[in-house]
Amino acid sequence: MSVLVEKMEAALEQSLEQLAAAGSAADIEQVKNSMLGRQGFLPAAMKELRDVPPEEKPQVGKAANIIKLKFTQALQDKTEALASADAQSNAIDVTMPPRRRYSGHKHPISQTIDDCVKIFRRMGFVTVEGPEIEDEYHNFDALNTPADHPSRDSQDTFYLLDGMLLRTQTSPVQIRVMEKQDPPVRIICPGRCFRKDAPDATHSMNFSQIEGLYINKNVSIADLKGTLLTFAKEMFGDKVQIRLRPHFFPFTEPSIECDVLFRNFKGGEDKWLEIAGAGMVDPNVLKNVGYDPEIYTGFAFGMGIERMAMLKYEIPDIRHLYNNDTRFLHQF
Ligand code: PHE
Repeated sequence: MSVLVEKMEAALEQSLEQLAAAGSAADIEQVKNSMLGRQGFLPAAMKELRDVPPEEKPQVGKAANIIKLKFTQALQDKTEALASADAQSNAIDVTMPPRRRYSGHKHPISQTIDDCVKIFRRMGFVTVEGPEIEDEYHNFDALNTPADHPSRDSQDTFYLLDGMLLRTQTSPVQIRVMEKQDPPVRIICPGRCFRKDAPDATHSMNFSQIEGLYINKNVSIADLKGTLLTFAKEMFGDKVQIRLRPHFFPFTEPSIECDVLFRNFKGGEDKWLEIAGAGMVDPNVLKNVGYDPEIYTGFAFGMGIERMAMLKYEIPDIRHLYNNDTRFLHQF
């Protein structure tokens, strides 16, 4: 066989190997140039063909054509293969689930208020609101709180000008509702309260309560207990127990605190934890709003929202609820 044909076959073999290894259009272009380009192998081979003896020419010329054909075919195949691989990697996979976009949600305090409101609404309580800036009369006097009561101290209450203050409890809303409305009354009132407490894991100067008030004929402490138990079961689960402990509030008589029994609290022992102050509305309070305590009786309660959120979501420090660290808030 002619030396030229051998050379051409060797060049073809080499270029086919290079094509196989080519990973980009630029690689392919390079192989193409080395074979077909002006300084490429095949044009040079064609020049050599001139010097081949005439009797060998047809055979060598035919071989040269076949080699060129094989090369251009391989070149085309490789170009197409690369293009289709490219298209595949850029293709849109319509079955792929979308990336989830983070969307905002309610603050855990608002969520807890919503939970409470839903439970009490099913028991017939109507939601009302009252002002955060109160006067001394509604926050203290009308609630039967004597002038020398420690809660009125300026160390505990944020006083504003002209006898106004930041309400220290949601109880003044009881007064505002009863002033405007004749019995029966069955309301809850969620809202912010303010006290000059030094901030720590369980105290914040700014906190939230939910107040409840039910006034009617023949309301007894059994109704209060039933209401609190129903609430506790709905909020913390059916197996929950409550206990009422005697306490004192100026505006209720008798007064109690309501504890809920948390089984296996934080993985440890069973624990009673207070969720509400409550009691039968003091006759003096009823008189202050013009209700006849001989005809009407009722109960009131006040619950700490943050406390409830902390129990429900196992939040160890009340300050987490106010720092607005999104790493914390995103968990709810
Ligand atoms: N206002 C009381 C407090 O802030 C709670 C309470 C409300 C107690 C209603 C009795 C009745 O501690």
